[in-house]
Amino acid sequence: MKACIVYGSTTGTTERVAEKVAAHFDAAEVVAAQKAGKSLSCDLLILGASTWGVGELQEDMAGFLDKFRYGALEAKFGAVFGLGSQAGFPDSFVDGIADMAAFLEAKRIRNIGIWTPEGVEFSSSRATLTDGDMMGLALDEDKQPEKTDSRILGWVEQIKKRLKDTK
Ligand SMILES: Cc1cc2nc3c(=O)[nH]c(=O)nc-3n(C[C@H](O)[C@H](O)[C@H](O)COP(=O)(O)O)c2cc1C
Repeated sequence: MKACIVYGSTTGTTERVAEKVAAHFDAAEVVAAQKAGKSLSCDLLILGASTWGVGELQEDMAGFLDKFRYGALEAKFGAVFGLGSQAGFPDSFVDGIADMAAFLEAKRIRNIGIWTPEGVEFSSSRATLTDGDMMGLALDEDKQPEKTDSRILGWVEQIKKRLKDTK
């Protein structure tokens, strides 16, 4: 099982998190969104990016999604994580997750990274589903860096279990 982790990061925070996520997989390739080639093939595609402006997906990841909207991207399963600031941007917290999740859906890549938020406080996010879950893992290195490792671990374990259950 090969996992590709594609990240978009402006100041390096999401890049560091992408490496942490990759460490949980036996075979993982970490790719900077702006450096991705013309095609990408993996069993599990994990997209990770921060949110900038007010609710805007990080620019390199936005470029990646544009490039691959009609491009050669093979993956059966997908998952998304997003970096944001719940204290600084409580009304657009990790909004970029929603854009990456919509991309997976459009590419018919099954999102197995739905996450139940715990211990995050925000007013609004485009990544929130009607039942309160989020379309992907939300991380806040600005306010809760100490929670990142355990959140990643729980999320990856859930992804691995979902992968197993589909076999
Ligand atoms: C100008 C600016 C705008 C931001 N806008 C948002 C936002 O709308 N929503 C959010 O959750 N976080 C927002 N953030 C927080 C960043 O997403 C967060 O700091 C993130 O960790 C940066 O990750 P990166 O270095 O990988 O790009 C913003 C930060 C700055 C400085």
